[in-house]
Amino acid sequence: MSNIEITLNGEARQLSVEDGTPLLWVLREQLAMMGTKFGCGVGLCGACTVHLDGNPVRSCSYPAQLANGRKVTTIEGLAPSDEELHPVQQAWLEMNTPQCGYCQSGQIMSAAALLANNNSPDDSEIDAAMSGNLCRCGTYPRIRKAIHRAAALIATDQADAPAEESQA
Ligand code: FES
Ligand code: FES
Repeated sequence: MSNIEITLNGEARQLSVEDGTPLLWVLREQLAMMGTKFGCGVGLCGACTVHLDGNPVRSCSYPAQLANGRKVTTIEGLAPSDEELHPVQQAWLEMNTPQCGYCQSGQIMSAAALLANNNSPDDSEIDAAMSGNLCRCGTYPRIRKAIHRAAALIATDQADAPAEESQA
């Protein structure tokens, strides 16, 4: 067993974890973060994607003890507040992106990580960043459109930010 401390969605959490236990099971079973899904269990489908210090990781294949001292963000913690969605979530709603929904929290986490590093990806950059997230319902065209829409929402927010500051 290892005692670890992680910052989960902005809150410090202390945990005791069995060595080698995947982060996914700690999130779902110890921390009740059920939005992160189990798909393949071997790092191939992306359903279990969360952010570790802002980067996407496959939590089914990531030993929880290696998250010690790091920031973990799940779909439950992606929105900036209870009143405001993350631009990727907003775009997903506008584009009616999900079908069955099972893969979508992983898709959203991968898309948010992509846009944090590249706020204007083209189709090939989107396809490359999202290639590890599989969708058995085939929502890929809507995912791509939603990522372009989220990029536009982020650009609008950034354009508005200085004006808001100057009015303050
Ligand atoms: S469940 Fe983790 S990649 Fe498939
Ligand atoms: S929406 Fe059904 S698996 Fe992707």
